[in-house]
Amino acid sequence: MSASTTPTPAPTASGIPVIQLTGVSRTFRLPDGSAFSAVSQADLSVQAGEVLGIIGKSGAGKSTLLRLINLLERPDAGTVRVEGKDLTALSSQALRQARQGIGMIFQQFNLLQNATVADNVAFALKLHAGRRRADIERRVQECLALVGLQDKAKAYPAQLSGGQKQRVAIARALAPHPAVLLCDEPTSSLDAETTREVLATLADVNVRLGVTIVIVTHELSVVQALCHRVAVMHGGRLVETFNKADAGQGTSVLARELAALAPVAPLVPLQPSPPSVPEAASTPTPLEQEAAHV
Ligand SMILES: Nc1ncnc2c1ncn2[C@@H]1O[C@H](COP(=O)(O)OP(=O)(O)O)[C@@H](O)[C@H]1O
Ligand SMILES: [Mg+2]
Repeated sequence: MSASTTPTPAPTASGIPVIQLTGVSRTFRLPDGSAFSAVSQADLSVQAGEVLGIIGKSGAGKSTLLRLINLLERPDAGTVRVEGKDLTALSSQALRQARQGIGMIFQQFNLLQNATVADNVAFALKLHAGRRRADIERRVQECLALVGLQDKAKAYPAQLSGGQKQRVAIARALAPHPAVLLCDEPTSSLDAETTREVLATLADVNVRLGVTIVIVTHELSVVQALCHRVAVMHGGRLVETFNKADAGQGTSVLARELAALAPVAPLVPLQPSPPSVPEAASTPTPLEQEAAHV
């Protein structure tokens, strides 16, 4: 953990949600001049340390809802609170600062193709003035170790598999010590085996670092493997929210389909142990130091 980065607060036991959407709506103006309501009156609370899955058919409004959480989409109505701050009320500078606490990953990874893996991970850290180069390099190494890719620092994205690219994107998102990680269909362009590799990394990020995860997916198997709680969207509305274990009592078709899935083997972390520190077993590893700060 570098001295110049801001640690995120430990998950609180206060019961205050880390994410709270209240009456959030987003309407798009279509080329013919008509208004299309992509998200209507969404109320959603996510507690610190949770993994929430947002499911629904294509076009249901899942990506728009996710992008409302970090204000990539501005709501027409309602409030968006993350870590207690009303994001809609912040100045652009304060919003940039608040976004450091909200990482995001995408289906297509969105890596810079002409930059090395290390430079991709350093990207967000370099955007903010005042960080020393040595601190940035140390943080990049820590984040690559978190996702098991220390040996790929000098590689370019084109040299990596899809799963490795997504793990680089996870490392990049984690670099500024976010409290929240937003994931938009992060495994939808991956095969089944690589999907489990990425889900194992996300589970590790949640369990070891305490990072709250909101994941949008159309794959119920992803929800089954990773999520604690599920929100179902249909036609721009959040139609129900339930604990995964209670999916059988859900009223939507998707809840029933989720309940009917056969159990899956638990996700196994790629790296059962963090990278070793040679001099003393009692020296905190980067991972342990990281865990102490989130
Ligand atoms: N910028 C935009 N302009 C117009 N319509 C949009 C825009 N973004 C999304 N939509 C529409 O809003 C609806 C929800 O989109 P989206 O949130 O991407 O759904 P999902 O992620 O569930 O597939 C879709 O009908 C989509 O076409
Ligand atoms: Mg989408």
